[in-house]
Amino acid sequence: SDTRLWGGRFGGGPSPALAALSKSTQFDWELAPFDLAGSRAHARVLHRAGLLTDDELTRMLGALSELSAEVAAGTFVPVESDEDVHEALERGLSEKLGALGGKLRAGRSRNDQIATDLRLYLRHHVRALVGELSSLEYALLGLAQRYQDVAAPGMTHLQHAQPVLIAHQLLAHVHAFARDVDRLRDWDRRTAVSPYGSGALAGSSLPLDPDAVAAELGFDRASDNSVDGVSDRDFAAEFCFAAALIGVHLSRLGEEVVLWTSTEFGWARLDDSWATGSSIMPQKKNPDIAELARGKSGRFVGNLTGLLTMLKGLPLAYDRDLQEDKEPVFDSMEQLLLLLPAVTGMMATLTLRPEILEAAAPQGFALATDVAEWLVRQGVPFRSAHEISGAMVSFCEEAGIELDELDDDQLAGIDERLTPGVRSVLTVRGALAARSARGGTAPERVAEQLTGLADLARQH
Ligand code: ARG
Repeated sequence: SDTRLWGGRFGGGPSPALAALSKSTQFDWELAPFDLAGSRAHARVLHRAGLLTDDELTRMLGALSELSAEVAAGTFVPVESDEDVHEALERGLSEKLGALGGKLRAGRSRNDQIATDLRLYLRHHVRALVGELSSLEYALLGLAQRYQDVAAPGMTHLQHAQPVLIAHQLLAHVHAFARDVDRLRDWDRRTAVSPYGSGALAGSSLPLDPDAVAAELGFDRASDNSVDGVSDRDFAAEFCFAAALIGVHLSRLGEEVVLWTSTEFGWARLDDSWATGSSIMPQKKNPDIAELARGKSGRFVGNLTGLLTMLKGLPLAYDRDLQEDKEPVFDSMEQLLLLLPAVTGMMATLTLRPEILEAAAPQGFALATDVAEWLVRQGVPFRSAHEISGAMVSFCEEAGIELDELDDDQLAGIDERLTPGVRSVLTVRGALAARSARGGTAPERVAEQLTGLADLARQH
């Protein structure tokens, strides 16, 4: 028998090339549980509208729950002739219910179904994603706490700039992931709108109740515009953007881990279980997780770009192009859920090397800014202070010594305003403690951040 959902006005079946092109079960089967949830809600509103009898509703819901169990167990799967998830599930329902199975299609279309399914899929998995992001935040908070008082070279242009607490830098990553969680929460507010009831595009002439369906499916409300209901993929694009930015954040963290674990930096060591070896070089311990984090950021950005490009120029309402929305969305979700636990494990087990970090912190004349700011406090204009401090650096570079090794005569020789008092700012601890305004790297500000971010992570 013909299980196609649209055979009525067609003479022959689709050509094999069309069927192959059109087919989406190989990826949209992912949506089956959500499509079934929609079907249950839809059956109830059909019943309330008097379009299914009590007995029909009971049999319908019974068959739907059987089918759900079979889908979950993998005993009901799409067959070659099923075009998409909707067609496969209607076939399954009709196999159980005969003609009654065909009643469920009244008042809905694959257009509002698919739009609803994708929202349900994303809202469901975004909850897991937020959980993974919180775990990563906790891992980074733990690392920051373990090495809370360790100074490190703060860098700009990957050159030594000014000392910071390594915890301050680690917490900068936590702020980024906390914003990602906030972004997903905000995304959910706009995504919690149900397209069910939009039908093909114009709504339904049957007395259905879109708000009841919305409520049953956990949405805040039903769509206010049926054309928008079936056309809007903003939620998919916004998700892909949020995923791309998470990917970029993971990539930047990954790049730091790659650098920190190199022999040249020597700041950190990877735990054996979170590093890989080489098939030829016995000594190798490679940061593959960090590199995959960096590498996968490309596909997240690609998924966003592909989706936006597909959407651009589509006339309202539904167009078949929209079938192309699913793979980028699924890929971004799947890859993030694969990547995040690995990055979390890597960061949770990372060992930092405080002696190396501390020793490197003042290197590269990283306290030169402190000299300039000390001069400013003595009344010297910053422009001159910058030059005097620069002259100190150039003198030391020439003499092969550090700033704090200059004797009184050498200081005075560089500039008479460089009195011995300047040595008071030539320590890493002093430089850290002095940066005590909001946002600074002073130990007490970093301690506050730790507490604040831990509170935030708990709320996630
Ligand atoms: N497989 C389709 C999609 O993913 C479902 C909707 C099909 N609607 C249609 N009129 N062909 O978008």
